[in-house]
Amino acid sequence: MKALKPLILACSLAALPVLTFAQVSVSVDTTKPGPVINKNVYGQFAEHLGTGIYEGLWVGPDSRIPNTRGWRNDVVGALKELKVPLVRWPGGCFADEYHWRDGIGARNKRPVKVNTHWGGVAEDNAVGTHEFFDLVELLGTEAYVNGNLGSGTPQEMAEWLEYMTSDTKSSLAELRRKNGRKEPYKVAYFGIGNEAWGCGGNMKPEYYAHLYNHYATFLKTPPGARPKIIASGGNDNDTKWTDVLSREAARGTDGISYHYYTLPTGVWEKKGAATGFPESEWFSTIQQTLRIDQQIKQNIAVLDKNDPQKKIGFYVDEWGTWYDVEPGTNPGFLFQRNTIRDAVVAALNFNIFHEYAERVRMTNIAQMVNVLQAMIITDKDKMLLTPTYHAYKMYIPFQDATKLPVAVDNDVAYSSNGKAVPGISATAARAKDGKVYVALVNTHPTRASDVALNVAGLNVGSVTGQVLTAEKMDAHNTFEQPQAVKPAPFSAKAADGKLTIKVPAKAVMVFAVEA
Ligand code: AHR
Repeated sequence: MKALKPLILACSLAALPVLTFAQVSVSVDTTKPGPVINKNVYGQFAEHLGTGIYEGLWVGPDSRIPNTRGWRNDVVGALKELKVPLVRWPGGCFADEYHWRDGIGARNKRPVKVNTHWGGVAEDNAVGTHEFFDLVELLGTEAYVNGNLGSGTPQEMAEWLEYMTSDTKSSLAELRRKNGRKEPYKVAYFGIGNEAWGCGGNMKPEYYAHLYNHYATFLKTPPGARPKIIASGGNDNDTKWTDVLSREAARGTDGISYHYYTLPTGVWEKKGAATGFPESEWFSTIQQTLRIDQQIKQNIAVLDKNDPQKKIGFYVDEWGTWYDVEPGTNPGFLFQRNTIRDAVVAALNFNIFHEYAERVRMTNIAQMVNVLQAMIITDKDKMLLTPTYHAYKMYIPFQDATKLPVAVDNDVAYSSNGKAVPGISATAARAKDGKVYVALVNTHPTRASDVALNVAGLNVGSVTGQVLTAEKMDAHNTFEQPQAVKPAPFSAKAADGKLTIKVPAKAVMVFAVEA
């Protein structure tokens, strides 16, 4: 049967009109450098949720799983290779129920609480402030600490920041020293509450703005140690939170956050499966994720009106795919598989974030390990890297790179049921190593594309990089086949002054342009 297939295909093609797609053209202009893509656009998020921290990252110092002071060596090693610039902690919804004093001092004396948001499991507070900063230092990353506005007090929040950052002889600074940390910690970002419109307190933006100003008034640090302060903003189609906060809560605010999750169906009650989905859900996932472009644009238009000096950043501090939980797992743990579709989604979002680099100065994918669109999945002592991990790794050259204008012409849309999305998405930047890097994403699950690359200001000789693709739409890594989806090397040479790149179906490509 197999041998007959090409013949059958040839016969059926002969009977059909020949479909020739014009070559897609991607033009990069190196003569017009744009803004810097802040490395923190590649930030991560680790919440006390499911096995995201406990088991996925933290196994405790007495575990048989090799660890450094409780943090598993395999996961930390893999994350170090990602050059994670920033980690947000402890939530999420968990942040507004977290009381920092529960997580300091001798671990065996810490109170055990119930994680009411996520599965109702026992939270023994083994990971607290000192453990988190140990992870931050092991990873060589920066800390984004999210404070509790929902169920805490201004005093509790102010004291946490003092505990972490004070270099004085205050009782709180001395308590930190007694608990093992002489020098102050560096808090790069501090968030005042999370999703105040929902799990953070079901507030209206005006009410939150008042509270935000109230809490922010008491957040004090030694000179030079003040973190970037974040006001917790809106989500999905909303611009109201950005509008109210950029008018009413702007003083001393470095950024307003925003959350956008990609659901294949767009419906929370039945989001769609992570694997085994039909092509219609591949398409709708791409369509849903691309909606973030308009959402960002609309929110930035509001910021441009209220903050023309561009002091306030637009921080997408939660984003990524959210599917129906994996059957048989705790629904409160938000565990889902991660396929080539997730890698394509991640790369499409990166390309969009780059377009708005002036305002989108930080984002955090949800979440780092074992939760939602994770980089890494663990099972006891085993660990695997997901396609999303590979996409992050391939995009490392874009961290702190200078954005370059890109135009995609003659694109052949990917259409389904009368709807269409772009076939090829592209981004380009000059990286810190001086080279020009280009990333291409093919959204189509079965159609490869030929892309002609033009680079103004550079005589292109060749390109070298990596391509991430797979045969099946839901191809993913398993503990049995951990390398099923991984990047492959790729290169192409110019001929007669032209460079054409074959972009496989459902692929992410990142390459350096060489003269
Ligand atoms: O990332 C999971 C949850 O999604 C976060 O805790 C919350 O902020 C959001 O609703």
